[in-house]
Formats: sequence, C-alpha cells, structure tokens
Amino acid sequence: MSPDAASRLSAAASRTDSALAALLPPAEGPEGRLAEAMRYAVLGPGKRLRPFLVFEAGDLLGVEPERLERAACALECIHAYSLVHDDLPCMDDDDLRRGRPTVHRAFDEATAVLAGDALQALAFEILAAPETHPDGRVRADLVLALARASGAQGMCGGQMIDLSGVGGDLGAVARMQRLKTGALISAAFELPLVLARAGEAERKALLAFAHDLGLAYQVVDDLLDAEGETGVVGKATGKDAARGKVNFVTLLGPGDARARLDLIASQARAHLDPLGDRAAGLRACLDFVLDRQS
Ligand code: IPE
Ligand code: IPE
Ligand code: MG
Ligand code: MG
Ligand code: MG
Repeated sequence: MSPDAASRLSAAASRTDSALAALLPPAEGPEGRLAEAMRYAVLGPGKRLRPFLVFEAGDLLGVEPERLERAACALECIHAYSLVHDDLPCMDDDDLRRGRPTVHRAFDEATAVLAGDALQALAFEILAAPETHPDGRVRADLVLALARASGAQGMCGGQMIDLSGVGGDLGAVARMQRLKTGALISAAFELPLVLARAGEAERKALLAFAHDLGLAYQVVDDLLDAEGETGVVGKATGKDAARGKVNFVTLLGPGDARARLDLIASQARAHLDPLGDRAAGLRACLDFVLDRQS
C-alpha cells in the first residue's frame, strides 16, 4: 500500500472512530454494561475497511465528507454487530477477535446478543436522523440500502448458508460469499451513490468493482484462516477446515484459490477503467485488500 493510501486509511479510521465515540450511548446507569459492550465491539482495533471505502467512493463522487462520516459509522455498526454475533458459541464459537477476547468472552453471551442488536438499531438510527441529510427521501434510500445489505438477502442470508453448508458447488460458494461479506462491502459504495444521486454509468462501474472486491476480501479472509498465524491475524486460524466450512480455500486448496483471487482482482481493476484517474484511491483499496495480513 502506498504511503498516501495508508495515511488516507488511517485518516478514515480516526475520523470514523471519533464520530462513533460521540454517537454511541454513554456507559451510564443500570443499562451501562450494554453501552460498554457496544463500545468494546465497535471501537476495538479493526481495520475500518468499510468506512475507508465509503470515504474513497464518496470522494470520487464529490459527496461532502460530513455526510459520508455518518454513513461510514452506520455501516461500521452493522459490521461490528455481525462480528459479535458471528463469534457467539451458537455460530462460530470464537474466543479471539481483533487480538482480544470476543464480546461474549469479555462480557457474557446475553450481553453480546444485546450489544449486537443495539448496534444494528443504532446504525439505522444514525441514517434516519435529519443530521445525515436534509432530504427525507435520501435518508429513506440510505436506510433501504443498508437494510437490504444486512438482512435475509444480504449478510444474514449469507451467514445462514455458511452455517448450513453449501456442498461442493463453486457457484453456490460464490453466492454465499457475495451475501455474507460482499453485501456489506457493496453497501460501502451504495451509500455514497445514494448520497451523490449518482448516474447510471458511475453506479454500474462502482457496483461491479464492489462485487469483485467483496469476493476478493472473503477469499483473502479464508486464505488467512488457512495459512495465517493467530498472533498476526488477531483471530484463531485453521478453524474453517476444522469445522468443515465450505469456501474457495477448503474446496480448491490454497493454490487454486489464489489463482482465482488473481483473476477476480484483475476483473475488479478492469471495472475501474472507465473512471480513469478518479479511481486511484479505489485501486489502492484493492491493493490493501489483496495484501492484508490481518
Ligand atoms: C472480518 O471482517 C469478517 C469478514 C467479513 C471476513 P474484517 O476483516 O473487516 O474485520 P475487522 O473489522 O478489520 O476486524
Ligand atoms: C463472517 O465470516 C462474516 C460476517 C461476520 C458476516 P467469517 O466467520 O469467516 O469471519 P471471521 O473469520 O470469523 O472474521
Ligand atoms: Mg462465520
Ligand atoms: Mg467467524
Ligand atoms: Mg473467516
């Protein structure tokens, strides 16, 4: 990753974290433990990739940074909620996340369920509030886009397939990945597209790029699970094969999965061609996704 892209990523992360810290409820009163768990889940040392994408896509489309900030926070709340629930004993049963105990380990299971629920509610509260955009129709479109990306035909649907198993069909694996991980990554583009009221050409190019970027992201996640070290990745590794999870890596083996990843990456790059130099930031995002070690 170029020094410029690295500093843009860290600027997007700190911007998002300060905004989130102000939007999260205070850890006070008899319900304070819930707010504490929400803060622990969202403000922990994650990469903030989705906010970074919101800022880069929004910048390309000429959206005001203040508007992007709230969209980035809402999306990161959904992402953090998805991780809290993904780690629960009834799902992946993981003890380590972002190099620290998972939320149900640091708190308890019931608190983790509630923290996920409340983060989801907070995401939609942020988007629906008038501070996000003066036009109520734009706010409704933002809520609609994030709800679709998160729900039964988005992230939750993908998680269901992941838990049930998909068999050995590559097309079915690709569909699971598109829902499980791709939908929220696509939302990082959809939200700025709504805010910009962007035209068809930009929409088509950016969503096609988002599709391949999301797929690449999950293949890298699966490679890191197969080959990474817990100390570096920040979560337990080797669990997908141990649990009989079906993904490109457990199905094809790391070599063929990597070859597929190269193909997906060049396809992703090609989708940005029509956007020329304006897409330099997004090309850096793709490199970041491909090179990441955690
Ligand atoms: C992990 O997401 C779960 C997947 C969708 C693969 P990230 O790799 O973005 O996790 P954080 O936010 O950086 O911890
Ligand atoms: C989870 O995928 C993706 C979501 C939380 C929606 P994984 O189960 O592979 O994510 P990690 O490896 O636990 O981060
Ligand atoms: Mg999982
Ligand atoms: Mg998991
Ligand atoms: Mg994984």
